[in-house]
Amino acid sequence: MRINGFLRDVQGAARVTEARRELIANASPENLYHDHIRELAQELHPAATRVQVTRVEDVSPTARRLTFEPVDGDVLPPFQAGQYVSLDLRVVRTLTSRPYSISSAPFEARAGERSMFQITVRDGKKGENFVANWLYGLVKPGDRFVAHLPFGEFFYEPLRDAQHVVALAGGSGITPFISMAREIAHGTLDCDLTILYGSVSPDDIICKDELDQLARSCSRLRVVHVISGEVDELPANCQRGLLSADLIMLYSQGMPADGNTSYFVCGPLPMYRYVLGELASLGVPERRIRTEVFGSPRDPRQNDDYSGPASMETYKLTVRRGIDEQVILARSTEPIAVALERAAIPNRTRCRSGACGYCRCKLISGEVYVPELGDGRRLADKEHGYLHACSSWPLSDCVVEVPIV
Ligand SMILES: Cc1cc2nc3c(=O)[nH]c(=O)nc-3n(C[C@H](O)[C@H](O)[C@H](O)COP(=O)(O)OP(=O)(O)OC[C@H]3O[C@@H](n4cnc5c(N)ncnc54)[C@H](O)[C@@H]3O)c2cc1C
Ligand code: FES
Repeated sequence: MRINGFLRDVQGAARVTEARRELIANASPENLYHDHIRELAQELHPAATRVQVTRVEDVSPTARRLTFEPVDGDVLPPFQAGQYVSLDLRVVRTLTSRPYSISSAPFEARAGERSMFQITVRDGKKGENFVANWLYGLVKPGDRFVAHLPFGEFFYEPLRDAQHVVALAGGSGITPFISMAREIAHGTLDCDLTILYGSVSPDDIICKDELDQLARSCSRLRVVHVISGEVDELPANCQRGLLSADLIMLYSQGMPADGNTSYFVCGPLPMYRYVLGELASLGVPERRIRTEVFGSPRDPRQNDDYSGPASMETYKLTVRRGIDEQVILARSTEPIAVALERAAIPNRTRCRSGACGYCRCKLISGEVYVPELGDGRRLADKEHGYLHACSSWPLSDCVVEVPIV
């Protein structure tokens, strides 16, 4: 700073004060201040978007597509093909949330007044699900939801991924690839996509007509249906078998180990484990594999590394929130996030598979099981006793500190 001399500086400061007074006196009563960074951040990542179901369509004998449009002046934020939305849900008396990959394309969310997004929900097996049957069977046009989007890292990034992507999808794991395929066909996603889509029977294939039509209309897309169950006659462009190393090799660009192809894996846990083994046997470099698992294991006892009791036990879970302390019951077969929901204790969840960290809380005492595949915690969090409630199963009575949301 330049020093001009004591008196000149003091006089100068007095002039500034006078000029400021004048500015304030003539200022508009309206707040003209714009925090552009904050406004952009809110536009890109709104806390929540109010949406309404406008259409429900069957896309296979066991899957339905739900179309949502924003309401009450809300605007859909931009997202990448492959990301997911987390829907807040009230099922009977439980407040919960579930993640669903967005199966429509990003360009459709930017379509002005016709802005929308879609999810595709598979009907759950009776007795094994809580939300899927309800979303599949009972949701109708006009129903309103609060949606949080976009989430997830499962999208094509040219700086990281090869130009040619082989999608390895199982069951409802096809949904993020429908979004990518639509975006590629529209010319707004620059990559080549070969989809190897595994289903048990031809009837289980979700959006078959749309996928085949997209592949016919765009030379950058290819779709192969792979059927693992017994069938008398295979429909056109279907192959028999599993998403095996041989099949992956056949549709890769060059040798998989050379890194000319990226592999995007999405589907239920058993398929996911099998496919990762096949990719490892082909020597695919890790940087060329991207994964999305559709949820945490239904029953932790099915995991090889599970160290808990063989029968279902019930433990005491002491939950601290600020100065409040509550003792609830938690089953050994359900994640702590579900125990909190059953007891109506608010706890935010988004991915429900251990990845995003929204349900992070602190384990004060007790023991929990965290599966290797669902452990998305940072190293520092692991060391300091934090856990992701959606991916932690109690192995003893526990005390946890849950943030107030
Ligand atoms: C990133 C991502 C994307 C996904 N995309 C799709 C998709 O595109 N399409 C699709 O179909 N699925 C998708 N899924 C899976 C989806 O989120 C759900 O897991 C699936 O619909 C099954 O839901 P569910 O509640 O029926 O079963 P689960 O999610 O397995 O939930 C059952 C849980 O609810 C608990 N529960 C049972 N009763 C109660 C009660 N009274 N109170 C509280 N809890 C209870 C059970 O203990 C159990 O833990 C995706 C998952 C992820 C992680
Ligand atoms: S909800 Fe994402 S880690 Fe638990």
